[in-house]
Amino acid sequence: MEFKTLGNTSAKIPMVGLGTWGIGGFSSSNSEKDEIGIKALRLGLELEMRFIDTAEMYGGGHSEEVVAEAVKDQRESVFLATKVSGGNLSYDNVLRSCEASLSRLRTSYIDLYQIHWPNSRIPISETMKAMEKLVENGKIRHVGVSNFSVRQFTEAQKALSKTDVVSNQVDYSLTERSVETDLLPFAERERITIIAYSPLARGQIAEQAHGDRWQVLDQITRINHKTRSQVALNWLLIKPSVVVIPKASNLQHVRENSGCVGWRISKEQEKKLNDAFK
Ligand SMILES: NC(=O)c1ccc[n+]([C@@H]2O[C@H](COP(=O)([O-])OP(=O)(O)OC[C@H]3O[C@@H](n4cnc5c(N)ncnc54)[C@H](OP(=O)(O)O)[C@@H]3O)[C@@H](O)[C@H]2O)c1
Repeated sequence: MEFKTLGNTSAKIPMVGLGTWGIGGFSSSNSEKDEIGIKALRLGLELEMRFIDTAEMYGGGHSEEVVAEAVKDQRESVFLATKVSGGNLSYDNVLRSCEASLSRLRTSYIDLYQIHWPNSRIPISETMKAMEKLVENGKIRHVGVSNFSVRQFTEAQKALSKTDVVSNQVDYSLTERSVETDLLPFAERERITIIAYSPLARGQIAEQAHGDRWQVLDQITRINHKTRSQVALNWLLIKPSVVVIPKASNLQHVRENSGCVGWRISKEQEKKLNDAFK
């Protein structure tokens, strides 16, 4: 595995993590496929993708329980990230949500605690006061956000006095590049980690068939002896601040995704992809 520095800290995190949306259910709990989810996560850990992203709202909390089962004998060597929902951002609710996540995850600390979505009805200073308290108490190691604009990120950062916001988790893939306008250059300048979610465009990158852009991707895929998904993830990882969290329940997909590092597409191939997926 290759690693990147987390924000402006000295911590190193795997460039490729494991997403969990759908593991343990989607918007409500579903335990029918727990065994498959646990197997997929454990294989991902074996393949050194030792960074798991979950959220209190995934599977109504059940995703965190599945994650707990997958990491139970190796918690210390996994970077665990979860999220507090946008509706739970008052001071008391953040503390309560964190306790509930800790309990479902069966751990005494969360490595990265992220605000899932901004909420304009709660002052960010109130939310961040709670985040700072959690850092102080050792319940969380780092503070992150998700789906924040540059302005919202800056306000969140200003509201903290003792710690920094280290990451912003955003929708970023070959087919969704809006973060490149301002969020990505901002992150690179300010040393903020961009955690690219839906990096495979929810599976679409492997499946799309028609159009010139897919031919460009297929050509680069063939030259490198890789798959479309591997090239798409590799293209994201070229950006210094970006790490990726593809979700896969299929074991073959997990193996494939772990092979997106250890090599790089060339500058010329990067440019071809940039142009094709403009
Ligand atoms: N912060 C947010 O608001 C937010 C929003 C969305 C997602 N996320 C996070 O980001 C993670 C990833 O995003 P995502 O789940 O939306 O989408 P994704 O990772 O882009 O795509 C997941 C889909 O791609 C398939 N897949 C995975 N690897 C593949 C491969 N090598 N070849 C072909 N298909 C493959 C998976 O199928 P199988 O499962 O069958 O293997 C699944 O259907 C989430 O799980 C979640 O942790 C965060």
